[in-house]
Amino acid sequence: MTPLPPIETERLILRPFRQSDLAPFAALNGDPEIMRHFPRTLSRDETAALIERIEATRARDGVCFEAVEEKATGELVGMVGLNAPDFEAHFTPCMEIGWRLARSAWGKGYATEAARARLATAFAPAAEGGLDLDEVVAFTAQDNAPSRAVMARLGMTRDPADDFDHPALALGSPLRRMVLYRIRRAA
Ligand SMILES: CC(C)(COP(=O)(O)OP(=O)(O)OC[C@H]1O[C@@H](n2cnc3c(N)ncnc32)[C@H](O)[C@@H]1OP(=O)(O)O)[C@@H](O)C(=O)NCCC(=O)NCCS
Repeated sequence: MTPLPPIETERLILRPFRQSDLAPFAALNGDPEIMRHFPRTLSRDETAALIERIEATRARDGVCFEAVEEKATGELVGMVGLNAPDFEAHFTPCMEIGWRLARSAWGKGYATEAARARLATAFAPAAEGGLDLDEVVAFTAQDNAPSRAVMARLGMTRDPADDFDHPALALGSPLRRMVLYRIRRAA
């Protein structure tokens, strides 16, 4: 499938990852504060492997998480985008939207701005370059309040009956219990 073309918002560019993103993305993935709702931080090699997996998925399916570049500085400030989760749950197959930003990029509305642009792509008709989807989901560890706030700002809503245990996370881990938010095209 042809990859989604990069997209520009007021302050950001969403585009595929490049080799030059490795250092700043590894710094971000190695920051325990940024990764506190994930099982652990990632090393530089794990970040390189993650970039490879993301770009291979994009080449195969046309869609995956994207690098987020700040227009004013040209710097990589994080990762946002659509992604088809590869685990089985009551709501899969589906398309999720997710985000992870460098600490210096928090508190500026960047996650919401980037995600809003990609939700528009998700719901746009194919004839306009969109994915023509009916629904997009997002999920996160129950106590990840900043991420849940992004979901709420985007107009996504949670039904507690959709909460689930992430199959890739260890039994007994406090991170395993996830909240699921959904948004439908009409919203
Ligand atoms: C989740 C995460 C991306 C949220 O970042 P965030 O900065 O809180 O969210 P946004 O980018 O949407 O910014 C919103 C904040 O910017 C503020 N803001 C400042 N200027 C703004 C502007 N011009 N437009 C919009 N909001 C603005 C908002 O008021 C809001 O602040 P508040 O939370 O104090 O009310 C960030 O906490 C993160 O990277 N966490 C670690 C990774 C992670 O857990 N990812 C999710 C895994 S599922």
